[in-house]
Amino acid sequence: MMTTAPTPAVAWLRWAVKVAGIYVRLAGNSVEAAIRARAAVGGGGTAARLRAWASVIGVAVVAVASGGGRTALQKAFEPVERAADEAADALADAGKATAEDPYEPYRALYATLPVPPIGLAAAIESDEVFARLRVAGPNPMILSRVRAADDEAVAGWLTDAHLRAAAGCGGDSIAAAVADHRLYVADYRGFAAALRASSEATGGTDDLDMAGGADGRGAEVLLGPVAAFALPPGGGSDGRLQPIAILPDGEPSTPALTPADGTAWTAAKAIVNAADGAHHELDTHLARTHLFVNLAMGCTSRRLSAMHHPVWRLLTPHADGTAFINNLTPHTLLARGGDVHLLLPASRAAQVNYVGGIVTGARFNDRFPRTELAARGLLHEDALSYPYREDALAMYDAIHTFVADVLGEYYTSDADVGGDPELAAWAADISAPAPGGAGLAGFGELRPDGSTEEGIIRTFAYLVKAVTLLIWTASAQHAAANFPQADLMACAAAYPLAVREGAPTPGAATPITQWLPPLRVAARQLFLGNLLGGVVHLPLGSYPLTPLPGGWFRSARGAAAVSDLRRRLDDIDARIGLREAGEQWFKYEYLRADRVPRSINI
Ligand SMILES: [Fe+2]
Repeated sequence: MMTTAPTPAVAWLRWAVKVAGIYVRLAGNSVEAAIRARAAVGGGGTAARLRAWASVIGVAVVAVASGGGRTALQKAFEPVERAADEAADALADAGKATAEDPYEPYRALYATLPVPPIGLAAAIESDEVFARLRVAGPNPMILSRVRAADDEAVAGWLTDAHLRAAAGCGGDSIAAAVADHRLYVADYRGFAAALRASSEATGGTDDLDMAGGADGRGAEVLLGPVAAFALPPGGGSDGRLQPIAILPDGEPSTPALTPADGTAWTAAKAIVNAADGAHHELDTHLARTHLFVNLAMGCTSRRLSAMHHPVWRLLTPHADGTAFINNLTPHTLLARGGDVHLLLPASRAAQVNYVGGIVTGARFNDRFPRTELAARGLLHEDALSYPYREDALAMYDAIHTFVADVLGEYYTSDADVGGDPELAAWAADISAPAPGGAGLAGFGELRPDGSTEEGIIRTFAYLVKAVTLLIWTASAQHAAANFPQADLMACAAAYPLAVREGAPTPGAATPITQWLPPLRVAARQLFLGNLLGGVVHLPLGSYPLTPLPGGWFRSARGAAAVSDLRRRLDDIDARIGLREAGEQWFKYEYLRADRVPRSINI
């Protein structure tokens, strides 16, 4: 594992080279996909390949030369996106879709990029993979345990018969499964309702919906599905969930679908993955990591003495590149017509409105991983295999020990903490309403009744917890959300970010392609996922290279704390490697030591 990070200029040059390398790789993939598709209908060849590359390079040069700074970066997206569009159009022209394999044109988009090892269709075709994605996928933040038979997540639609039809659940019932802590749901109704409310509040329809073009596919459809999962009675599944039934649009009066429904069941699973993907990007990833960390880190820059205050020294390396990437995205991915706008449901205004509501509405004290897991009823469910939970908590505990070590050198009592005026100003700034402060609700000491002393830090324990949460969110939690984007989530056939058809009719044999995004959308999703999930920069456990004794923390105790942190991260890494060595479907390795950047920079 890396022991120090390079100086900032070298570090950011490396970042730029990594991003440029990915751009070239993605452009090459698109050019090759287009050439192969043209070749299939009598076109293509070396001359066409050279013309395509000349076009990509020419557009890039003109785009970058015509703008400076942020505009140049914004324009640098254009040639790669154009190449992706051309690949999609070439594949659509080549008509590669066949009734036997509806996924073939999506697979053909992977011309030089490797197809995910389990294949593109597995995420929605395989029940085992579909279930594992809820606990080891891009968005393992939705699953919750059903805590009462009349819980609104299952009331009115899930029946004992649904449960009994599942393998190994012959004599089961909802009441028994609830009592044994074996019934779980992934419920996206609240998310869909909030996004619909944002659409209504911002007045409108999506004026730039990619409605299918040559594919002739329909517009995006926003559904709020509920999926039910169970562990079979008596164990025997190694804690792995089985999907039981799906209510595709979340309305109890409409039909639920089960594994017996064939193609319609596959469509229902695609609807769940699409809701999961949209929630992931807007909520779990953008709102709860990128923007949350940015706001708190802004207070660190404003209120704490640069280079001197121990909390400034602890937090600042974990904000490397965060403001930069966040300032860039409104002009690229989040721009009108940008990839987030085009790939996800609802208009850009509705997406921004929704994200803003999460950033200001989610309470800081509810974000601690054990609090968050407990709220979903999953903290103590040891019978449930939940790789994200295992790794996220291990990372949190390692960072907590490290933060306590470092801060313990400077604060030896609660009185030291309460008597630090800079810390008091920092805490008040985090809670103060925006735009003057960060506007983060629920930050401050917890009273015995569970309420929060907003903007107040009085104890060493709360200081350590708050700093730990910020570092954990900037590193481990962002890694858990960000890097799955380059795997199955990059493929629209496996993880559509919006479906194109409403709830399927039970038993109907409508082709799955009716629900999947058109190829132009799929080509953009492949680009977006591989770009965002491809840049692993500045590993957790590294700190800026400092020639002074004691390293970045300028103390022997600080240097020892960093070494201890690295050792703990390596231990976690080894445990993940052992656990995943025999994994049958796909490995959950996003929190391995060399895959977790210390800051949000992509
Ligand atoms: Fe990210």
